[in-house]
Amino acid sequence: MKILITGYAGFIGFHAAKEFLRRGWDVAGIDNFCDYYDVKLKRDRSELLSRFAAEARGSLSLSDVDICDLDALRGIFGREKPDVVLNLAAQPGVRYSITHPFVYQKTNLEGFLNILECCRHAQNVPKLVFASSSSVYGGNKKMPFEESDKVDTPVSLYAATKKANELMAYTYSHLYGMQTIGLRFFTVYGPWYRPDMALSLFADAMLHGRPLKVFNNGDMLRDFTFVDDIVDGIVRVVESRSLPLYDIFNIGNHKSEKLLDVIETLAGALGVKPELEMLPMQPGDVYATYASIDKLRAATGYEPKTSIREGIPVFARWYREYRGSGAPSAN
Ligand SMILES: NC(=O)c1ccc[n+]([C@@H]2O[C@H](COP(=O)([O-])OP(=O)(O)OC[C@H]3O[C@@H](n4cnc5c(N)ncnc54)[C@H](O)[C@@H]3O)[C@@H](O)[C@H]2O)c1
Repeated sequence: MKILITGYAGFIGFHAAKEFLRRGWDVAGIDNFCDYYDVKLKRDRSELLSRFAAEARGSLSLSDVDICDLDALRGIFGREKPDVVLNLAAQPGVRYSITHPFVYQKTNLEGFLNILECCRHAQNVPKLVFASSSSVYGGNKKMPFEESDKVDTPVSLYAATKKANELMAYTYSHLYGMQTIGLRFFTVYGPWYRPDMALSLFADAMLHGRPLKVFNNGDMLRDFTFVDDIVDGIVRVVESRSLPLYDIFNIGNHKSEKLLDVIETLAGALGVKPELEMLPMQPGDVYATYASIDKLRAATGYEPKTSIREGIPVFARWYREYRGSGAPSAN
Protein backbone atom coordinates (compact mmCIF):
# COMPACT_ATOMS: atom_id res chain seq x y z
CA MET A 1 0.00 0.00 0.00
CA LYS A 2 1.22 3.47 -0.79
CA ILE A 3 0.47 6.67 1.11
CA LEU A 4 1.07 10.18 -0.25
CA ILE A 5 1.85 12.54 2.63
CA THR A 6 1.67 16.26 1.91
CA GLY A 7 3.70 18.44 4.28
CA TYR A 8 5.98 15.46 5.03
CA ALA A 9 8.84 17.74 6.17
CA GLY A 10 6.59 19.36 8.75
CA PHE A 11 6.43 18.41 12.41
CA ILE A 12 3.55 15.92 12.22
CA GLY A 13 4.27 14.86 8.62
CA PHE A 14 7.81 13.78 9.50
CA HIS A 15 6.66 11.60 12.43
CA ALA A 16 3.75 10.15 10.41
CA ALA A 17 5.98 9.33 7.41
CA LYS A 18 8.46 7.58 9.69
CA GLU A 19 5.74 5.45 11.28
CA PHE A 20 4.15 4.45 7.95
CA LEU A 21 7.59 3.41 6.64
CA ARG A 22 8.16 1.41 9.81
CA ARG A 23 4.85 -0.36 9.27
CA GLY A 24 5.87 -1.37 5.73
CA TRP A 25 3.91 1.25 3.75
CA ASP A 26 5.49 2.81 0.68
CA VAL A 27 5.57 6.54 1.32
CA ALA A 28 5.58 9.38 -1.20
CA GLY A 29 6.14 12.76 0.42
CA ILE A 30 5.72 16.27 -0.94
CA ASP A 31 6.50 19.59 0.71
CA ASN A 32 7.16 23.12 -0.57
CA PHE A 33 9.62 23.98 2.25
CA CYS A 34 7.98 27.36 2.80
CA ASP A 35 9.87 29.72 5.11
CA TYR A 36 7.07 30.29 7.65
CA TYR A 37 9.64 28.91 10.11
CA ASP A 38 13.28 27.72 9.98
CA VAL A 39 13.65 25.84 6.67
CA LYS A 40 16.76 24.07 7.99
CA LEU A 41 14.60 22.27 10.54
CA LYS A 42 12.41 20.97 7.68
CA ARG A 43 15.48 19.91 5.65
CA ASP A 44 16.93 18.15 8.73
CA ARG A 45 13.67 16.24 9.21
CA SER A 46 13.71 15.29 5.53
CA GLU A 47 17.31 14.09 5.70
CA LEU A 48 16.62 12.06 8.82
CA LEU A 49 13.58 10.49 7.15
CA SER A 50 15.67 9.45 4.14
CA ARG A 51 18.22 7.87 6.46
CA PHE A 52 15.45 6.07 8.33
CA ALA A 53 13.93 4.82 5.05
CA ALA A 54 17.17 3.09 4.10
CA GLU A 55 16.55 0.63 6.97
CA ALA A 56 12.75 0.51 6.80
CA ARG A 57 10.46 -2.04 5.18
CA GLY A 58 8.63 0.48 2.98
CA SER A 59 10.07 2.61 0.16
CA LEU A 60 10.31 6.42 0.15
CA SER A 61 10.13 8.98 -2.64
CA LEU A 62 10.30 12.68 -1.84
CA SER A 63 9.54 15.74 -4.00
CA ASP A 64 9.63 19.49 -3.49
CA VAL A 65 6.10 20.26 -4.68
CA ASP A 66 3.60 22.94 -3.73
CA ILE A 67 0.00 21.76 -3.38
CA CYS A 68 -1.03 25.04 -5.03
CA ASP A 69 0.75 23.93 -8.24
CA LEU A 70 -2.03 21.85 -9.78
CA ASP A 71 0.01 20.59 -12.75
CA ALA A 72 2.85 19.39 -10.52
CA LEU A 73 0.35 17.81 -8.15
CA ARG A 74 -1.35 15.97 -11.04
CA GLY A 75 2.08 14.68 -12.04
CA ILE A 76 2.68 13.33 -8.52
CA PHE A 77 -0.73 11.62 -8.40
CA GLY A 78 -0.16 10.11 -11.87
CA ARG A 79 3.28 8.81 -10.97
CA GLU A 80 2.71 7.65 -7.40
CA LYS A 81 -0.87 6.29 -7.65
CA PRO A 82 -1.42 6.44 -3.86
CA ASP A 83 -3.98 4.26 -2.10
CA VAL A 84 -4.29 6.87 0.65
CA VAL A 85 -3.58 10.61 0.71
CA LEU A 86 -2.73 12.18 4.07
CA ASN A 87 -3.02 15.94 3.65
CA LEU A 88 -1.01 17.71 6.34
CA ALA A 89 0.35 20.55 4.17
CA ALA A 90 -1.16 23.79 5.38
CA GLN A 91 -0.35 27.23 6.57
CA PRO A 92 -0.67 26.71 10.33
CA GLY A 93 -0.78 29.25 13.15
CA VAL A 94 -3.69 31.16 14.63
CA ARG A 95 -1.90 34.46 15.29
CA TYR A 96 -0.12 34.56 11.90
CA SER A 97 -3.52 34.37 10.16
CA ILE A 98 -4.36 37.79 11.59
CA THR A 99 -1.36 39.38 9.84
CA HIS A 100 -1.00 37.14 6.73
CA PRO A 101 -4.53 36.16 5.62
CA PHE A 102 -3.82 35.52 1.93
CA VAL A 103 -1.40 32.64 2.44
CA TYR A 104 -4.24 30.82 4.28
CA GLN A 105 -6.54 31.40 1.33
CA LYS A 106 -3.86 30.08 -1.02
CA THR A 107 -2.59 26.93 0.73
CA ASN A 108 -5.49 25.97 2.97
CA LEU A 109 -8.31 26.64 0.50
CA GLU A 110 -6.89 26.58 -3.05
CA GLY A 111 -4.26 23.95 -2.23
CA PHE A 112 -6.84 21.78 -0.47
CA LEU A 113 -9.21 22.07 -3.45
CA ASN A 114 -6.34 20.88 -5.69
CA ILE A 115 -5.93 17.83 -3.44
CA LEU A 116 -9.66 17.06 -3.66
CA GLU A 117 -9.61 17.42 -7.45
CA CYS A 118 -6.54 15.20 -7.85
CA CYS A 119 -8.13 12.53 -5.64
CA ARG A 120 -11.39 12.73 -7.56
CA HIS A 121 -9.72 12.33 -10.96
CA ALA A 122 -7.26 9.62 -9.91
CA GLN A 123 -7.64 6.29 -11.71
CA ASN A 124 -8.07 4.50 -8.37
CA VAL A 125 -9.61 7.16 -6.14
CA PRO A 126 -7.59 7.20 -2.90
CA LYS A 127 -8.95 7.54 0.61
CA LEU A 128 -8.28 11.10 1.78
CA VAL A 129 -7.37 11.73 5.42
CA PHE A 130 -6.76 15.40 6.18
CA ALA A 131 -5.71 17.63 9.06
CA SER A 132 -8.36 19.82 10.59
CA SER A 133 -7.89 21.48 13.96
CA SER A 134 -9.32 21.89 17.45
CA SER A 135 -9.48 25.60 16.60
CA VAL A 136 -12.74 24.98 14.71
CA TYR A 137 -14.43 24.80 18.14
CA GLY A 138 -13.70 28.53 18.57
CA GLY A 139 -14.91 29.92 21.87
CA ASN A 140 -17.30 27.02 22.57
CA LYS A 141 -17.99 26.71 26.29
CA LYS A 142 -19.26 23.13 26.52
CA MET A 143 -16.38 20.80 27.47
CA PRO A 144 -15.04 18.41 26.39
CA PHE A 145 -15.40 19.33 22.72
CA GLU A 146 -17.38 16.70 20.81
CA GLU A 147 -17.47 16.23 17.07
CA SER A 148 -21.26 16.75 17.12
CA ASP A 149 -20.90 20.23 18.70
CA LYS A 150 -21.77 23.27 16.62
CA VAL A 151 -18.62 24.75 15.07
CA ASP A 152 -20.03 27.71 13.16
CA THR A 153 -18.17 30.50 14.95
CA PRO A 154 -14.41 30.21 14.32
CA VAL A 155 -12.44 33.07 15.90
CA SER A 156 -9.47 33.12 13.48
CA LEU A 157 -9.13 32.87 9.73
CA TYR A 158 -6.94 29.78 10.25
CA ALA A 159 -9.85 28.08 12.03
CA ALA A 160 -12.27 29.22 9.32
CA THR A 161 -10.10 27.59 6.61
CA LYS A 162 -9.98 24.33 8.58
CA LYS A 163 -13.76 24.33 8.97
CA ALA A 164 -14.00 25.12 5.23
CA ASN A 165 -11.83 22.04 4.50
CA GLU A 166 -14.29 19.87 6.41
CA LEU A 167 -17.19 21.26 4.37
CA MET A 168 -15.35 20.94 1.04
CA ALA A 169 -14.41 17.34 1.82
CA TYR A 170 -18.02 16.53 2.73
CA THR A 171 -19.18 17.89 -0.61
CA TYR A 172 -16.67 15.77 -2.54
CA SER A 173 -17.67 12.66 -0.59
CA HIS A 174 -21.32 13.42 -1.29
CA LEU A 175 -20.90 14.24 -4.99
CA TYR A 176 -18.25 11.72 -6.04
CA GLY A 177 -18.43 8.91 -3.47
CA MET A 178 -14.83 9.55 -2.33
CA GLN A 179 -13.90 8.63 1.22
CA THR A 180 -12.71 11.70 3.16
CA ILE A 181 -11.91 11.74 6.89
CA GLY A 182 -10.99 14.94 8.76
CA LEU A 183 -8.91 14.86 11.95
CA ARG A 184 -9.14 17.67 14.48
CA PHE A 185 -5.72 17.69 16.14
CA PHE A 186 -5.38 19.18 19.64
CA THR A 187 -2.13 21.11 20.40
CA VAL A 188 0.52 18.64 19.31
CA TYR A 189 4.05 18.65 20.78
CA GLY A 190 7.14 16.42 20.91
CA PRO A 191 10.62 16.07 19.39
CA TRP A 192 11.13 17.91 16.07
CA TYR A 193 8.49 20.38 17.21
CA ARG A 194 7.60 23.64 15.46
CA PRO A 195 9.58 26.69 16.61
CA ASP A 196 6.54 29.00 16.37
CA MET A 197 4.52 27.13 18.99
CA ALA A 198 4.20 27.88 22.70
CA LEU A 199 6.47 25.19 24.17
CA SER A 200 9.31 26.13 21.78
CA LEU A 201 8.90 29.83 22.50
CA PHE A 202 8.88 29.11 26.23
CA ALA A 203 11.92 26.80 26.02
CA ASP A 204 13.83 29.37 23.99
CA ALA A 205 13.05 32.17 26.45
CA MET A 206 13.91 29.95 29.44
CA LEU A 207 17.28 28.87 28.02
CA HIS A 208 18.21 32.45 27.08
CA GLY A 209 17.14 33.96 30.40
CA ARG A 210 14.34 36.05 28.84
CA PRO A 211 10.91 36.49 30.44
CA LEU A 212 8.18 34.22 29.01
CA LYS A 213 5.28 35.99 27.32
CA VAL A 214 2.25 34.43 28.99
CA PHE A 215 -1.09 35.44 27.49
CA ASN A 216 -4.39 35.93 29.35
CA ASN A 217 -2.25 36.11 32.52
CA GLY A 218 -1.67 32.37 32.26
CA ASP A 219 -5.37 31.64 32.62
CA MET A 220 -5.68 29.19 29.70
CA LEU A 221 -6.34 25.50 29.33
CA ARG A 222 -4.99 23.33 26.54
CA ASP A 223 -5.33 19.68 25.62
CA PHE A 224 -1.66 18.91 24.85
CA THR A 225 -1.18 15.79 22.72
CA PHE A 226 2.17 14.04 22.35
CA VAL A 227 3.03 13.55 18.69
CA ASP A 228 3.29 9.72 18.99
CA ASP A 229 -0.34 9.64 20.15
CA ILE A 230 -1.39 11.85 17.22
CA VAL A 231 0.44 9.53 14.81
CA ASP A 232 -1.18 6.50 16.45
CA GLY A 233 -4.60 8.11 15.84
CA ILE A 234 -3.71 8.89 12.22
CA VAL A 235 -2.51 5.31 11.59
CA ARG A 236 -5.69 3.85 13.07
CA VAL A 237 -7.85 6.03 10.81
CA VAL A 238 -5.74 5.37 7.71
CA GLU A 239 -5.67 1.60 8.24
CA SER A 240 -9.31 1.19 9.33
CA ARG A 241 -11.57 -0.40 6.75
CA SER A 242 -14.80 0.22 8.60
CA LEU A 243 -15.13 4.00 8.60
CA PRO A 244 -17.96 5.72 6.73
CA LEU A 245 -17.60 7.65 3.49
CA TYR A 246 -17.16 10.94 5.37
CA ASP A 247 -16.37 11.54 9.01
CA ILE A 248 -14.63 13.87 11.45
CA PHE A 249 -12.65 12.77 14.53
CA ASN A 250 -10.94 14.61 17.36
CA ILE A 251 -7.41 13.40 18.16
CA GLY A 252 -6.40 14.72 21.58
CA ASN A 253 -5.08 13.60 24.92
CA HIS A 254 -8.44 14.09 26.70
CA LYS A 255 -6.82 16.18 29.47
CA SER A 256 -7.12 19.94 29.64
CA GLU A 257 -3.93 21.25 31.27
CA LYS A 258 -3.49 24.60 33.00
CA LEU A 259 -0.94 26.64 31.05
CA LEU A 260 0.96 27.52 34.23
CA ASP A 261 1.32 23.80 35.09
CA VAL A 262 2.69 23.17 31.61
CA ILE A 263 5.24 25.98 32.07
CA GLU A 264 6.24 24.58 35.46
CA THR A 265 6.72 21.08 34.00
CA LEU A 266 8.85 22.45 31.16
CA ALA A 267 10.94 24.59 33.52
CA GLY A 268 11.52 21.50 35.70
CA ALA A 269 12.57 19.46 32.65
CA LEU A 270 15.01 22.16 31.54
CA GLY A 271 16.20 22.81 35.10
CA VAL A 272 15.51 26.57 35.06
CA LYS A 273 13.47 29.04 37.09
CA PRO A 274 11.45 31.08 34.58
CA GLU A 275 10.43 34.71 34.78
CA LEU A 276 6.88 35.32 33.51
CA GLU A 277 5.61 38.41 31.68
CA MET A 278 1.84 38.40 32.07
CA LEU A 279 0.01 39.74 29.00
CA PRO A 280 -3.64 40.07 27.92
CA MET A 281 -5.42 37.59 25.65
CA GLN A 282 -4.31 37.68 21.99
CA PRO A 283 -6.86 38.16 19.21
CA GLY A 284 -7.76 34.83 17.58
CA ASP A 285 -6.78 32.79 20.66
CA VAL A 286 -9.24 30.66 22.58
CA TYR A 287 -9.45 30.24 26.36
CA ALA A 288 -9.65 26.46 26.55
CA THR A 289 -9.46 23.28 24.49
CA TYR A 290 -10.42 19.82 25.70
CA ALA A 291 -10.98 16.86 23.38
CA SER A 292 -13.62 14.22 23.74
CA ILE A 293 -11.99 11.14 22.21
CA ASP A 294 -14.97 8.81 22.64
CA LYS A 295 -15.77 8.77 18.94
CA LEU A 296 -12.26 7.81 17.80
CA ARG A 297 -11.96 5.30 20.64
CA ALA A 298 -15.22 3.61 19.62
CA ALA A 299 -14.29 3.55 15.92
CA THR A 300 -10.64 2.49 16.18
CA GLY A 301 -9.67 1.65 19.79
CA TYR A 302 -7.55 4.85 20.06
CA GLU A 303 -6.14 5.44 23.54
CA PRO A 304 -3.53 8.18 24.12
CA LYS A 305 -0.63 7.00 26.27
CA THR A 306 1.54 10.03 27.03
CA SER A 307 0.88 12.49 29.86
CA ILE A 308 2.60 15.91 29.80
CA ARG A 309 4.77 14.73 32.75
CA GLU A 310 6.23 12.07 30.41
CA GLY A 311 6.06 13.93 27.11
CA ILE A 312 7.43 17.35 28.05
CA PRO A 313 10.80 15.97 29.28
CA VAL A 314 11.14 14.09 25.96
CA PHE A 315 10.53 17.35 24.09
CA ALA A 316 12.91 19.26 26.40
CA ARG A 317 15.70 16.73 25.87
CA TRP A 318 15.36 16.96 22.08
CA TYR A 319 15.15 20.76 22.23
CA ARG A 320 18.37 21.09 24.23
CA GLU A 321 20.20 18.64 21.99
CA TYR A 322 18.97 20.02 18.65
CA ARG A 323 19.16 23.70 19.44
CA GLY A 324 22.50 23.08 21.11
CA SER A 325 24.21 21.23 18.24
CA GLY A 326 21.98 21.97 15.23
CA ALA A 327 22.57 18.40 14.02
CA PRO A 328 19.80 15.89 13.38
CA SER A 329 19.57 13.30 16.13
CA ALA A 330 18.04 9.86 16.04
CA ASN A 331 15.03 10.80 18.24
N1 LIG B 1 0.84 21.06 15.39
C1 LIG B 1 -0.38 21.23 15.90
O1 LIG B 1 -0.55 21.42 17.12
C2 LIG B 1 -1.60 21.20 15.01
C3 LIG B 1 -2.86 21.32 15.60
C4 LIG B 1 -3.99 21.28 14.80
C5 LIG B 1 -3.87 21.08 13.43
N2 LIG B 1 -2.63 20.98 12.87
C6 LIG B 1 -2.55 20.77 11.41
O2 LIG B 1 -1.74 19.64 11.15
C7 LIG B 1 -1.03 19.82 9.94
C8 LIG B 1 0.46 19.63 10.18
O3 LIG B 1 0.88 20.60 11.15
P1 LIG B 1 2.37 20.74 11.64
O4 LIG B 1 2.33 21.19 13.05
O5 LIG B 1 3.12 19.52 11.27
O6 LIG B 1 2.83 21.99 10.77
P2 LIG B 1 4.17 22.21 9.94
O7 LIG B 1 4.15 23.64 9.48
O8 LIG B 1 5.35 21.75 10.72
O9 LIG B 1 3.97 21.25 8.69
C9 LIG B 1 3.29 21.64 7.51
C10 LIG B 1 4.20 21.35 6.34
O10 LIG B 1 3.49 21.69 5.15
C11 LIG B 1 4.37 22.36 4.27
N3 LIG B 1 3.59 23.23 3.40
C12 LIG B 1 3.03 24.43 3.72
N4 LIG B 1 2.42 24.94 2.64
C13 LIG B 1 2.57 24.03 1.65
C14 LIG B 1 2.18 24.01 0.29
N5 LIG B 1 1.47 25.01 -0.26
N6 LIG B 1 2.51 22.94 -0.47
C15 LIG B 1 3.24 21.91 0.06
N7 LIG B 1 3.66 21.90 1.35
C16 LIG B 1 3.33 22.95 2.12
C17 LIG B 1 5.33 23.13 5.16
O11 LIG B 1 6.57 23.40 4.51
C18 LIG B 1 5.49 22.19 6.35
O12 LIG B 1 6.63 21.36 6.20
C19 LIG B 1 -1.41 21.19 9.42
O13 LIG B 1 -2.48 21.03 8.51
C20 LIG B 1 -1.89 21.92 10.66
O14 LIG B 1 -2.80 22.94 10.34
C21 LIG B 1 -1.49 21.01 13.62
